Amino acid sequence: MATTRLLRGLPLVAALASSLAAAAPLTADGTDDVADYVIVGGGPAGFVVAEYLTRNPDVSVTLLDAGPDLDSDPNISVPGRFAFNDKGIWMFFVEPDPQLGGRTPDLGQGGALGGGSTINNMIYCRGAASVFDEWAEISGNYGLAWESLLEDFRATTSWQDEAEITYEQPVNASVFGDGPLAVSRQRQQFALDQRLADTMQARLNVDVVDMASGDGIGVSQGLNTIRAKDRTRSYAYSAFGHIANTRSNFHLHANAWVSTIGFAGTTADSVTYNDTTTNTMHTIRAKEIIVAAGAVKSPHLLMLSGIGPADRLEELGIPVVKDVPEVGQNLVDHHNSLVSFAAAPEELTLWQYQYDATVREEADAEYARNGDGLLGTQWGDVFATVRLPDEAFEGVDGSFFQNLPADRPHVAYQYINVGVIPDVANVSSITAWVGLVQPEATGNITLASANYQDAPTIFANYFGSPADRAAILYGYKELRSLLNCDSLKPILTKELFPSANVTSDDDIWAAIQETARSWHHPVGTVSLGTVLDANWRVKGIDGLRVVGSPAMPYVSTCPIQSTVYALSHRAAIDIATADGV
Ligand SMILES: Cc1cc2nc3c(=O)[nH]c(=O)nc-3n(C[C@H](O)[C@H](O)[C@H](O)COP(=O)(O)OP(=O)(O)OC[C@H]3O[C@@H](n4cnc5c(N)ncnc54)[C@H](O)[C@@H]3O)c2cc1C
Ligand SMILES: *[C@@H]1O[C@H](CO)[C@@H](O)[C@H](O)[C@H]1NC(C)=O
Ligand SMILES: *[C@@H]1O[C@H](CO)[C@@H](O)[C@H](O)[C@H]1NC(C)=O
Ligand SMILES: *[C@@H]1O[C@H](CO)[C@@H](O)[C@H](O)[C@H]1NC(C)=O
Ligand SMILES: *[C@@H]1O[C@H](CO)[C@@H](O)[C@H](O)[C@H]1NC(C)=O
Ligand SMILES: *[C@@H]1O[C@H](CO)[C@@H](O)[C@H](O)[C@H]1NC(C)=O
Ligand SMILES: *[C@@H]1O[C@H](CO)[C@@H](O)[C@H](O)[C@H]1NC(C)=O
Repeated sequence: MATTRLLRGLPLVAALASSLAAAAPLTADGTDDVADYVIVGGGPAGFVVAEYLTRNPDVSVTLLDAGPDLDSDPNISVPGRFAFNDKGIWMFFVEPDPQLGGRTPDLGQGGALGGGSTINNMIYCRGAASVFDEWAEISGNYGLAWESLLEDFRATTSWQDEAEITYEQPVNASVFGDGPLAVSRQRQQFALDQRLADTMQARLNVDVVDMASGDGIGVSQGLNTIRAKDRTRSYAYSAFGHIANTRSNFHLHANAWVSTIGFAGTTADSVTYNDTTTNTMHTIRAKEIIVAAGAVKSPHLLMLSGIGPADRLEELGIPVVKDVPEVGQNLVDHHNSLVSFAAAPEELTLWQYQYDATVREEADAEYARNGDGLLGTQWGDVFATVRLPDEAFEGVDGSFFQNLPADRPHVAYQYINVGVIPDVANVSSITAWVGLVQPEATGNITLASANYQDAPTIFANYFGSPADRAAILYGYKELRSLLNCDSLKPILTKELFPSANVTSDDDIWAAIQETARSWHHPVGTVSLGTVLDANWRVKGIDGLRVVGSPAMPYVSTCPIQSTVYALSHRAAIDIATADGV
């Protein structure tokens, strides 16, 4: 270990590592391979860009992902089984947070072919259009404006409706195209769904809206990245990767953990990776390197490679390629706090699936027959997004929230038929949450060490401003009073957490802290406008681009996968146009 540490910081570390550990080099210049483009990371961003660029047979693309191929794992492909899956998760924890009473919620990310889309909850939602218009201004890339990005939302998706829907939910099929990612909605409602949607409309004073057409505020029985025909997960690898795999100019390596990007001066020209199946290091030379490693690992890799805050890199002995203090700053993530309710027997829950043999056998049989039943769902789709009234910010400076464009919600209310809070009660229950969808405070990601295998240090700064705290406190109270409504009592029989005796602001705040968690939508850590130019290039560096969640200037109002797909499609067009491929 000591030797490895000493070697780090030498410019030749990559070459040394590969000459020590690698199989015999394949090319004359001592590297193992060459490609026009090397893409680091195979989540929605990496696979969308790979599929697009390989349409040109003269362009060679190699995609490296540290994670495994889980394509044939039923815990991935069967939607309802995501609740059982424990593979393909790249686990991170945030630093102890004084706002959360010192807690350290996890910020797990996807680590498999498909990235987060392999393990996520499959919600497909685009949200407020003004977000995209503002990104266009911030980045100087006017292709990101809503009316333009809609073409990319279309190009990446296709709408697959279920044959017989019994509930009211507007969907505009023309905002989908004939792209690879399948989007559908749930076949049947859970017992709670319509009651909840109605109660939300009445209590929160919002309408049912179509969250794929530019609307940000309202109630929705949402859409999912599930194929309607067989109710299987549609995700980045199956949708885009399988197409790229049919092309001889595409090379895919799973279990390939990139340790560093190599430079000649300020031109990126190679990547070095650990093939963790054989434990050998390899270097690939490329004309261009596209980092698509998500919002946690992309800034991490840039910093390990010498692009980041120079003072910290120097402390760790990493040669500075370019001092870019903004790398790793501006971490923005949706985050939320939970409540739990006991559910009446007609509300089908994961608990019932686990402990009631009749429910389980029926669910397994229904799914096997035609994809029907519990396993064809992701355990709950109804949600609402709202703006908070001015009174929510009494006594604090609420101007950040109050000045957001009128289509932006402040918080989201959502539920799932899964018991999430540990040790609440061993009964059939649902979990609901209120989350900040446009938080004011931002966090940061820095290097913990120069060892690429060590996780970076993450200060998430959840509920990090007085107005963020006022918003979540108001929202948490609203969520509890909503779910305790008489109209929901027949289904939600008893509040289990925080429970009726928790009434003072201090006790409510303690409940918020206790259940605070990431919604796993981190963005902004290698942002357009600051680190990146309008064509996704790291400013001041040649041959290096960053795409996907880290490039977003801040978080959109919905779960973000829809936007990662669309934004990356736009990036691929921009790259192909600029590079003349
Ligand atoms: C648990 C969870 C639930 C979610 N639920 C939803 C949801 O319901 N709806 C929604 O819209 N969004 C959801 N998301 C968010 C969404 O999945 C992500 O925002 C999206 O996947 C980000 O795409 P990306 O391509 O930018 O990065 P990622 O999907 O994170 O992909 C990055 C890839 O890079 C690889 N990688 C990282 N570092 C390296 C390295 N050094 N070398 C090689 N490979 C590397 C990783 O293995 C990973 O596969 C969820 C995310 C998670 C984690
Ligand atoms: C799927 O999850 C179940 C429950 O956690 C586990 O027993 C099973 O081994 C998993 N299947 C695979 C293929 O990993
Ligand atoms: C559906 O979306 C298209 C494209 O944005 C729009 O022109 C049309 O008016 C929408 N239709 C409805 C009914 O909202
Ligand atoms: C390669 O990865 C394996 C598995 O994670 C690890 O044990 C090994 O130390 C790594 N090798 C190098 C040279 O980094
Ligand atoms: C929870 O309840 C179920 C059904 O009664 C039982 O089978 C299971 O063992 C219980 N689990 C725990 C941890 O008590
Ligand atoms: C990161 O955030 C933490 C907590 O907000 C702060 O103390 C620290 O100074 C920040 N680090 C950097 C490098 O910005
Ligand atoms: C509320 O009641 C629960 C269960 O009896 C108890 O654990 C908890 O400490 C109480 N909370 C408050 C704030 O009184």
